[in-house]
Amino acid sequence: MSRHHRKHSDHILGIDIGGSGIKAAPVDIKTGEFVSDRRRVGTPDSGEPEAIVEIARGLCEDFDWSGPVGCAFPGVIRKGHTLTAANLNPAWVGVNADKVFSKALDNPVTMINDADAAGLAEVKLGAGKGIGGVVVMITLGTGIGTAVFVDGRLVPNTEFGHLQMGGVEAEDLASSRAKNDDNIGFGEWSKRVESFLKEMERLFWPDLFVIGGGISKNFDRFGPRIRLDTPVVQAKLQNRAGIVGAALAAYRDS
Ligand code: BGC
Repeated sequence: MSRHHRKHSDHILGIDIGGSGIKAAPVDIKTGEFVSDRRRVGTPDSGEPEAIVEIARGLCEDFDWSGPVGCAFPGVIRKGHTLTAANLNPAWVGVNADKVFSKALDNPVTMINDADAAGLAEVKLGAGKGIGGVVVMITLGTGIGTAVFVDGRLVPNTEFGHLQMGGVEAEDLASSRAKNDDNIGFGEWSKRVESFLKEMERLFWPDLFVIGGGISKNFDRFGPRIRLDTPVVQAKLQNRAGIVGAALAAYRDS
């Protein structure tokens, strides 16, 4: 077993709970680098709180971690409580997750919405670094996550993945899950992503869109096809963003 007692106050354990995997790594929050190798466990089909908390506890134990922990979660988080969990399990609604995770992991845990985490990482250390004005982060995964920043400050829990587009939720049209479920190629899918971004552009007038989520590693296959007035760029931290952003959120709290 790897031993990674926290040796430095800039090191925070980041955990990213996703629809398909739960990933963790200790992060140097000044550089955004992982201090040791990331570990990943598949998300249990049930998506239930007990099962997920147990996996997070196991990951924390794998790193023999003692210190602050940040945890990115695919739902609304207000005052440490999980208020939605569209792609996990409704049993999360109303859970005092800060408390439940802190107790199970025996460390102080800060919860943050996953897209907010990814956005924080990009704004502090990645594609949105040093960019003022309104930056909108979009994560395309099992769902669609959004994070809105004004001069680097987050407006938490924006949930534009659930925007209605012609009677359908945006994430049921333009997430990477929708691309798989509907068995469409990048050409057709990029038109759906473009329609969603056009709607966001019309409502927000952002200075920049940053596109993340697993599928953003194939940005060259869909990004250049998207025609908008607003610049659209690929996330820099890629699949590290959730973990790094969770760690940044916990650092803010520690
Ligand atoms: C959830 C958001 C989350 C996004 C990406 C949506 O279904 O409502 O909170 O950020 O999926 O995981």
